[in-house]
Amino acid sequence: MSDLLAVVGLGALLAGVAAIGWWLLVASEGVYLGRRVVVWLYDRFAQKYDGVKGYIREYEQMYLADPIMKAIAPQPDPLVLDVATGTGRLPLALNQHRAFEGFVIGVDLSREMLRYASRNIHPYDERAAFIWCPAEQLPFPDDCFDVVTCLEALEFMTQPEAVLRELARVLRPGGVLLITQRINTRMMPGKTWSSGQILELFEHSGIVDGQAQIWQVDYRKVWGTKAGDSLPTGALTLEDVLCCPRCPDSPMRRDGDQWRCEQCQGVAVTGKDGIIELFPLYR
Ligand SMILES: C[S@@+](CC[C@H](N)C(=O)[O-])C[C@H]1O[C@@H](n2cnc3c(N)ncnc32)[C@H](O)[C@@H]1O
Repeated sequence: MSDLLAVVGLGALLAGVAAIGWWLLVASEGVYLGRRVVVWLYDRFAQKYDGVKGYIREYEQMYLADPIMKAIAPQPDPLVLDVATGTGRLPLALNQHRAFEGFVIGVDLSREMLRYASRNIHPYDERAAFIWCPAEQLPFPDDCFDVVTCLEALEFMTQPEAVLRELARVLRPGGVLLITQRINTRMMPGKTWSSGQILELFEHSGIVDGQAQIWQVDYRKVWGTKAGDSLPTGALTLEDVLCCPRCPDSPMRRDGDQWRCEQCQGVAVTGKDGIIELFPLYR
């Protein structure tokens, strides 16, 4: 009898451990285990990401590219930063928009997700470039982008408030910020904000005129504008805005397949797939 109880107890313990492991790694997508685990999971999952998401081109135009182009109208050539770009959803949608004449920089910390972004949209051939770097420390000067976006990603970050401040820092006064966040977060409690909380965080980061709306059923989409006014930046290229992560105000200069900091001489290479590998310079 005691043997049977021991076996049942052990079985229950193993089942409990398996359930917690499943919740931590699968159901909550690693969000409670820190940035490394989240990025490791995205690296593993990158190949399947587009298939699972099944983004539909017409909807991406209708719900993403069109509203952004309307928000900045009449400017046709915005400089756009998409943080946690994944497989390049936003750069692709904007590049497929009939009126878009701007330039989009996509950044992400999953090197594998970026590899698929580069397959989806060829950097440099199109109006886009991709950089491997973290959202927490963006390699750009203050006040330089006309539009900054961060879609379906803040919930995966360990310091989302700090990332939000970083998004606001690089946005120019009068520029447009767009974020989306999951609403149905039963599997990851405490990882998303209510509309009221987001709008309050926006205000603390200098983002005004915030508007929140339900988006694509499971998400909340929140817009705002950086307080103040400035002239549109326009379609600059990466050479005009990329800075060294070690010496923040020092530009990175392109030299063939390499990018070199003028101050510390740190070098980032461009991968064969066109991704600029800045992340090693952060270490
Ligand atoms: C759900 S995907 C969203 C991708 C894309 N924005 C979209 O809407 O399809 C979340 C992305 O956030 C990225 N990510 C998570 N934490 C990050 C961080 N700290 N810095 C940069 N990217 C991060 C992941 O690598 C992943 O590509």
